[in-house]
This record gives sequence, structure tokens and C-alpha cells, in this order.
Amino acid sequence: MPSDFLKYQAQTSPHPLAMEVSHANGSYIYDTNNKAYLDFVAGVSATPLGHNHPKIISAIKEQLDKYLHVMVYGEYIQKPAVELAKLLAKNLPYPLENTYLVNSGTEAIEGALKLAKRATGRSEIISAKNAYHGNTMGSMSVMGYEERKQAFRPLLPDVRFIAFNNEEDLNHITTKTAGVILETIQGGAGFIEPENGYLEKVRKRCDEVGALLILDEIQPGIGRTGKLFGFENYNCVPDILVLGKGLGGGMPIGAFTASRKLMNLLQDNPKLGHITTFGGHPVIAASALATLKEITESNLMAQALEKEQLFRKLLVHPLIKDVRGKGLMLAIITPSAEITNTVILQCQDKGLILFWLLFEPKAIRITPPLTISNHEIIEGCSIIIDILNKI
Ligand SMILES: Cc1ncc(COP(=O)(O)O)c(C=O)c1O
Repeated sequence: MPSDFLKYQAQTSPHPLAMEVSHANGSYIYDTNNKAYLDFVAGVSATPLGHNHPKIISAIKEQLDKYLHVMVYGEYIQKPAVELAKLLAKNLPYPLENTYLVNSGTEAIEGALKLAKRATGRSEIISAKNAYHGNTMGSMSVMGYEERKQAFRPLLPDVRFIAFNNEEDLNHITTKTAGVILETIQGGAGFIEPENGYLEKVRKRCDEVGALLILDEIQPGIGRTGKLFGFENYNCVPDILVLGKGLGGGMPIGAFTASRKLMNLLQDNPKLGHITTFGGHPVIAASALATLKEITESNLMAQALEKEQLFRKLLVHPLIKDVRGKGLMLAIITPSAEITNTVILQCQDKGLILFWLLFEPKAIRITPPLTISNHEIIEGCSIIIDILNKI
């Protein structure tokens, strides 16, 4: 199987981790030798309730027995998608009440960028340096990391970059700007939180010049930062909210949410302003609905902040220079990329899954399922500290 994996399945790096998965349950993934791996990554923030959560599995099975794909997005009334959009609206501040469901995070970003252009009649998009918003052409155009995109140019015109958390740069947002797109907490850059009311200031500047604020919550969203949406921590409501990853509970999804008035623009001039075959797929929407219900009805969000404190208490070592992030979106910063690589690879050998961040080579990603237990946190952190002790 490993040789077929390398031979037939397209690869994205020369050295994939290549663990052969047999099954997964709770906070553990098992390989085909039945070795258990404690999962501190959660499919890169995409399985907030861990693996094989019984409520997600039964929601999926129930929908499987009724119908799969029946029609392109937006034509028929399909209960799981309607209920999901309604539950999102119930949990969002006004005017974020209307959701468009798509298939992935990057597609939701594309939809949000299109909506900002359509709503303002302007073309300029402002993004942040070191931002990551996905890998299709539009999303890649607003990625603030030239090295990873220069081979794919030309990309979208009229994209400008500002430094995240830099107030002076907000002057680059002008009456020419259609939209400002930011991650609520920068992910690939190294889990950088907005500071000193930064997002409130961005909001104010957007209002001054009539630009739309798009917040990408594909990673911090759905409970990971202790609130259902990361922006609730920073007193700033976007015009367009973008979700993905964890919303699907392990199934592929993306979504963008805005006011009814804004979203109505996608119906007209041109009509079919954004279309998709599979967006709102009933099985995926059923999985997302079960996930969102569980997160909003349990105390997992409050626990995320307590678990953050436990991580911070345990992750103390001379080779840990910083622990960045919020809730269960944490990054250990080591002194060098070499040490980070050693820790990630040796932890995998010892049965603990860690991972890298895209643009910060000294960072070690810790984004476990929200359902992880204190005992599992203690077990995983002791593996990390043991390995650091041997370096
Ligand atoms: C902040 C952010 N935006 C967008 C994306 C793209 O989402 P997807 O990989 O589902 O297209 C990601 C994925 O890592 C992300 O972390």
C-alpha cells in the first residue's frame, strides 16, 4: 500500500508522513499495525468532536438512508441544509443571518470575494501579509506569502497587502477598496492574535470608506477559541463571515454568511452569481448540523479555555520559546525549524500526532479535538517534554 500511495496518488511534498490509517476513535487514530496515535492536530482543526463521534455518525447514517445528492445548490428544500443555515443564524449577531453552503474553505473565500466586489462595484481587495485563505486562484491571490504563489502568476489584479496588527497600514483601505479580508487569528503565520483592538479599528476604517470586512474563521471558528466564532473575542462583527473545516465535523464543507440584503445580490445581475453542484449536500449538512448542535449545547467551548491553561502549564521547557494562540488553537514556538521538525517526527514515532504551520517553520501545531480529555493532554505533553529533554 505505501508504494501505491506514492505511485498513484498525487503528492504535495517529497516526504509525506505516510501513516497508514486503519480506523480512528475519539482522540486516537490507529494505523494498520494497530498502533494508537494520540491526535493533537484533529485533521488540521477539522474534527472538533474527535473521530467517529456517535452523534455525527448517527446523523450521517440517518441521512444516508433518506437521500444523497438530488439537485444543484439552492433549488430544492433539503432539511439538513436549511436547519444548518438556521442554527448558524441563531448563533450569529445581526445582520449575519443568511448562509451560502459550499464544498470547501477556499470555495467559500472565492464566494466572499465575489460578493464584496458585486456589492461595492469596486475591484480592490486588501489582505494581510502572511495570510492564508486557501489554494484556488482567488484565495491564492489574497495569500500573503509570495514564495508559495509566484509560480502561479498571473493571479487576481488589484490585491494589496497590509501588515496584520499595524494600525498605520489601515490608511491603505480607501474608497477604492471592495473588501478587506483577514483571518481572525492568523493561522499559517504562526497563530497570531489581533492586538490592541486591531479588528475594531479595521472595522471602523472599513465603515469610513464603505469597504466590506470579510473575516476568515475557517480555522478559529466553531468553538476552538472558547467562543463559537473567534470574532466574538475581539468585539468586531464582519460583513461576511467565512467558515469551513470544523463546521463539517470531519466532512468537507465551506460556508459564507452575510446579511440577507448582501446575499440577495447573488441572485441578480447576473443571476446565478455563485453556483455549485454539491454545496449544501444533505449528508455533509447533516454532519455539520450535528456538530454545531453538540458544540453549542455542551460546555466544550468553556472547556477549551480551561484546556488551554492546562497546555500552557505543561508546555514549559527551555526549548519552548513561546506558546501562541487561543483556546485549543495553540502553537509551540521552538528556537529553530530543525528542532520543530525533530519534535514533530519523533512524537509521531512515540504515538503523538503534531504538525507544522504553513509559513512559520519554528511552530508546532496543537489543535486537538475539543473533546480531548485532561488525561490525554497530560499524556501528550509529557511525550513532547521527554523529546525536548533529549534534544
Ligand atoms: C484560515 C484558512 N482559510 C482557508 C483555508 C482553506 O480551506 P480548504 O482547505 O478547506 O479549502 C484554510 C485551510 O487550511 C485556512 O486555514
